Amino acid sequence: MLVNAKEMLAKAKKEGYAVGAFNINNLEWTKAILETAQEMNSPVILGVSEGAGKYMTGFKTVAAMVKAMDESLGITVPVALHLDHGSYEGAKACIEAGFTSIMFDGSHYDIEENVAKTRELVELAHSKGLSIEAEVGGIGGEEDGVVSNGEVADPRECAAIAALGIDMLAAGIGNIHGKYPANWAGLDFVTLEKINAATGDMPLVLHGGTGIPADMIKKAISLGVSKINVNTECQLSFAAATREYIEAGKDLRGKGYDPRKLLAPGAKAIKETVKEKIEMFGSANKA
Ligand code: 13P
Repeated sequence: MLVNAKEMLAKAKKEGYAVGAFNINNLEWTKAILETAQEMNSPVILGVSEGAGKYMTGFKTVAAMVKAMDESLGITVPVALHLDHGSYEGAKACIEAGFTSIMFDGSHYDIEENVAKTRELVELAHSKGLSIEAEVGGIGGEEDGVVSNGEVADPRECAAIAALGIDMLAAGIGNIHGKYPANWAGLDFVTLEKINAATGDMPLVLHGGTGIPADMIKKAISLGVSKINVNTECQLSFAAATREYIEAGKDLRGKGYDPRKLLAPGAKAIKETVKEKIEMFGSANKA
């Protein structure tokens, strides 16, 4: 059931768990995530980066596919179709295309410009029934060619952005996209606690969910994190399962080259990763 992310995240914050936001790249990804959420009776967010949107030939294609698949699979758990790290233009395009939720990432602007653009998009998104995520303090690592240094957000700036009426707030707390380096210092819980205190009921978003150990995930949830983004981990499990299939020569036997067979182990691996995360985040049976 396609919905915006407002209610599912307000419930998560109140009840002390987090909803997984898993990035999609194609039909297999979307199907694997939707089926797993349904099987686990969990709310879920499908994240679409601007790069993935382009890859799938545009946000309209993505919205049409997700809507149709949600119906065809008879999905009854709440599903939000969410733009991930949107630009100002990308956010507007997704509102038009039929997404149910957007993220405007203005973290690379100075705070005044981030506030001004976020304010405008909050009004536009809400007027069309979409939820909106904003960001303060860049998330480190590389995503779609955009590299940011992984800042730690200023709690006062977080409060200023939260006051604009957004539905969820992403704040940098030393988290990065992609694999964590061996010498990673870990999440900055002192800052997270201050941000949580400064923003009240606001569901907080933890980006860069790949590779964060379960104890840190649980602590982050206890300090107000209600949405956790995972992308790379599904890519890694898909790639490993596909590699295994091909290295075992299975594509060379019978009709093993049929894409419906060739991509099946990877899709199954995505389902296992998503299931593991839903269990870790505590959102199973919270639909
Ligand atoms: P990872 O690729 O590190 O899981 O991060 C995903 C993310 O934060 C998407 O916005």
